[in-house]
Amino acid sequence: MDKIKKVQPLSESTKWREDFPVDEVKEHFIERREFTKFLLLISGSFVVGQLYIGLQNFFRKSAAQLPIKKIAAIDSIQVNNFITFTYPDKGDTCLLIRLSETKFVAYSNKCTHLMCPVIPKMEEKQLYCPCHAGYFDMTNGSPLAGPPPRALARVKLKFHNGDIYAEGMAI
Ligand code: FES
Repeated sequence: MDKIKKVQPLSESTKWREDFPVDEVKEHFIERREFTKFLLLISGSFVVGQLYIGLQNFFRKSAAQLPIKKIAAIDSIQVNNFITFTYPDKGDTCLLIRLSETKFVAYSNKCTHLMCPVIPKMEEKQLYCPCHAGYFDMTNGSPLAGPPPRALARVKLKFHNGDIYAEGMAI
């Protein structure tokens, strides 16, 4: 006599699982290869973004050429003396200093700490900021003492037919 096995009816939730067999553990498992791909994608995007910003800065700088501007006649400044001038804009005051018969230097006179105007001390060959007692080396603009974190912005000079010109900034 055949035995008839009685089949239990599937409950609703079990039936659904049988029709759509989804292995949840497998579904949420991320393989090492996938994770590496994800990291490479993120890193690649970062590198592309940095390159884009770098190129933008490069082209912006080369497009923003500063004007060439006459400052003074060479003979109008005596050795161990200085004059003030504005460059590149009217509000940007600078100092042109004659260190010797043949050596001139020019700087923005804005202190690199909090932008106070610096004052030349010709005897000490220093530039002094009275706001917080900052000192700069007059021969190269580098900070010597006090809070200024970096050198003064230097004005590039050009000499032509007995005159001195400003032709850009070196920061
Ligand atoms: S602003 Fe020049 S030292 Fe502070």
